Amino acid sequence: MDNCIRVISRYALEGKTAECAQSLRECALAAKQTLESGSGLGNDFLGWLHLPSSIDEQQFSAIEQSAAQLRNECEYVICIGIGGSYLGAKAVIEALSDHFAAYKNTNGPKVLFAGSNIGEDYLYDMMDLVRGHKFGIIVISKSGTTTEPGIAFRIFKDMLEKQEGKGFAQRNIIAVTDAHRGALRGLATQEGYATYVIPDDVGGRFSVLTPVGLLPIAVAGFDIRALVAGAVEMEQNGDEQVLEYAIARNALYQNGKKIEVLANFTPRLHYVAEWWKQLYGESEGKDHKGIFPASVDFTTDLHSMGQMIQDGERTLFETVLSVGDQQHEVIIPTDKDDLDGLNYIAGKNVDYVNKMAELGTRLAHVDGGVPNLLITIPAVNERYMGQLIYFFEKACGVSGYMLGVNPFDQPGVEAYKKNMFALLEKPGHEEATAAIKEKLKQ
Ligand code: PA5
Repeated sequence: MDNCIRVISRYALEGKTAECAQSLRECALAAKQTLESGSGLGNDFLGWLHLPSSIDEQQFSAIEQSAAQLRNECEYVICIGIGGSYLGAKAVIEALSDHFAAYKNTNGPKVLFAGSNIGEDYLYDMMDLVRGHKFGIIVISKSGTTTEPGIAFRIFKDMLEKQEGKGFAQRNIIAVTDAHRGALRGLATQEGYATYVIPDDVGGRFSVLTPVGLLPIAVAGFDIRALVAGAVEMEQNGDEQVLEYAIARNALYQNGKKIEVLANFTPRLHYVAEWWKQLYGESEGKDHKGIFPASVDFTTDLHSMGQMIQDGERTLFETVLSVGDQQHEVIIPTDKDDLDGLNYIAGKNVDYVNKMAELGTRLAHVDGGVPNLLITIPAVNERYMGQLIYFFEKACGVSGYMLGVNPFDQPGVEAYKKNMFALLEKPGHEEATAAIKEKLKQ
């Protein structure tokens, strides 16, 4: 397929024999087959696999209509969710937006995110920002019971109803949740909010191409049809790239490279890395196994983490997410005095310099013992973001099966909740409360 994501892994399999490379490929093909046939662990969560090509006109236009409603009536739209219920939308919106949209007059509402932390000052500042302004809320929670978004929703629902009245709130609160279960479903039904369903067989971190991601992205003014069309391209033709990435990272893991650093040279991709970390971290970190996903923004972090990557412990490999074209051109001007000594790059565009930094960095890191994978996308737009999302999702499923874990559950995230509920003395947790109090006395 022309114009799509490419994975180049020639520095990853170095030192591997032909038989070893062949056996890794067989392992990846078997994992892909397990995934596609639905015969592996967590197979009740595979709804994302053919999701892009199953989205129909009715679904697109319903989401576009809801987005138009919020865009018409609201100056701000607060998206409330955590983990997989926010990071995909945040990543796409940040990637496609003007970097300084927050400070400019934009066409349509400003999209804000809450419920992904329990920061009191964060909530206070957001309340301060939207006070006296018309705002809407998209509240997203598959379980409908998650504490962080629950608190944020209670606060902003209360504020909106007091500020604009029940009628406005009812029109401009949209809930995205499970079809039947959870507190949010009951609340939405009682209040008469418009709702969208997160399918049973799509887990949080694989849900960006459901209304979880599509609704906020449409509210931000981006073309969700082009985004999904990009994902369909990878669903139908992306397998070779998926295999190349999954094979390379598992080969490196087997060679003792326990940390994968996703590096970008494009500031707008910062949150793509945050989304990727959640996708891979929550999917692979199980049974005391898994590649630790880390990320850096270059060239910024070359002046901090660059030292550690170049010269620190040799337990990591690097995956560079490289973008072909920038959206705009900025030429470095000539200066007649050349006191800063930069005339040697005068007349070049800034991205030319960035690309040389990227190549120079990759070569330096490979020389320093950091194997390098390269993932290229031609540009940052809806189509390539859609490709990237599906590519990373499928590669995550294949990688997880290669590793021998269930990539679709997250039992480990319950541990902090149990302690937090015990400490908060949540009804039903009396025994745990007594136990934790005892433990804290010791
Ligand atoms: O990927 C996941 O399943 C998690 O990150 C969830 O998305 C996150 O915990 C939020 O859960 P919920 O949508 O039920 O509030």
